[in-house]
Amino acid sequence: MELQRILSGMRPTGKLHLGNLHGALMNWKRLQHEYRCFFFIADWHALTTEYKNPKAINENILDMVIDWLSVGLDPAVCTFFQQSKVKEHAELHLILSMITPLGWLERNPTYKEQQQELESKDIGTYGFLGYPVLQAADILMYKAHAVPVGIDQAPHVELTREIARRFNFLYQEVFPVPEVLLTEIPKVPGLDGRKMSKSYNNAVFLSDSLETIREKLSQMVTDPQRARRKDPGDPAVCNLFPLHKIYSPPERIEAIERECRRAGIGCVDCKKWLIEKVLQAFQPIQEKRAFWENHPERVQEILEEGNERARAFAQETMEEVRQAIGF
Ligand code: TRP
Ligand code: SF4
Repeated sequence: MELQRILSGMRPTGKLHLGNLHGALMNWKRLQHEYRCFFFIADWHALTTEYKNPKAINENILDMVIDWLSVGLDPAVCTFFQQSKVKEHAELHLILSMITPLGWLERNPTYKEQQQELESKDIGTYGFLGYPVLQAADILMYKAHAVPVGIDQAPHVELTREIARRFNFLYQEVFPVPEVLLTEIPKVPGLDGRKMSKSYNNAVFLSDSLETIREKLSQMVTDPQRARRKDPGDPAVCNLFPLHKIYSPPERIEAIERECRRAGIGCVDCKKWLIEKVLQAFQPIQEKRAFWENHPERVQEILEEGNERARAFAQETMEEVRQAIGF
């Protein structure tokens, strides 16, 4: 039986961090064995907001592939590619733009939000309004059955479903209507307790050295009410505890939950345990990274091979699309 297909992408806007690891990559890693996966670098999507500084986008692309490889995404089972190297995406985007009512785009909640949030970036552009149409082209190009994304991207997949139905209705049944595969994202607080984000300067990057990771984690604030060792603490308000939930074994999580509340353990030890576990988990990631960083030409090749595979699939889809429209 042929495997169902999955597609997902990331904008190459910078180094990936723990939030990305647990929010997306671990999930991709699991899915790569269950589906035929296409994972791609959405450089045109990055251009919608970073068009004034396209050089920065370019510089991030190979680093992103290295991040993917080092956490164990396997190019032998999934296809990595770069959006702008598969020009078919532009053609499908154009065609889908013909059939997408403006109202669908103007009503898109992400659009309104971003317009306000990224005020400084002049994103009152045609391209930015069409961001979800380009995303629909990405997804439909590979006739994806499912799209693993976080909740913030769900409206875009919803719109993709509408666009697929409209195309199928107007012309011919070409596209499966893709499902959203909502990723359960564990809480990953940043070093300062806010959500981990590059722009808050509170992130642990996948590319940080073990020493840097240790230093960064050492600075994390625990329960602020717990000033002295003998004060009881509350894991529910401690920034460290969500990380224990990811990295520590169940017995330890239970013990912390119990002992923290009655001052049976101190934050210093608790932090030591966490650091030990995180470093343990990062050891194999860093070993893989060291290998790929020493073989940049191979990383480039992996991406190019992926581009070719993706292009071959995309060309077939576009044949069908043109035929459906009668062009
Ligand atoms: N918009 C997505 C993000 O910002 C990236 C993206 C582009 C994407 N095209 C996609 C994700 C297609 C899933 C499927 O994260
Ligand atoms: Fe947080 Fe652990 Fe300190 Fe409790 S003991 S406040 S969970 S660091």
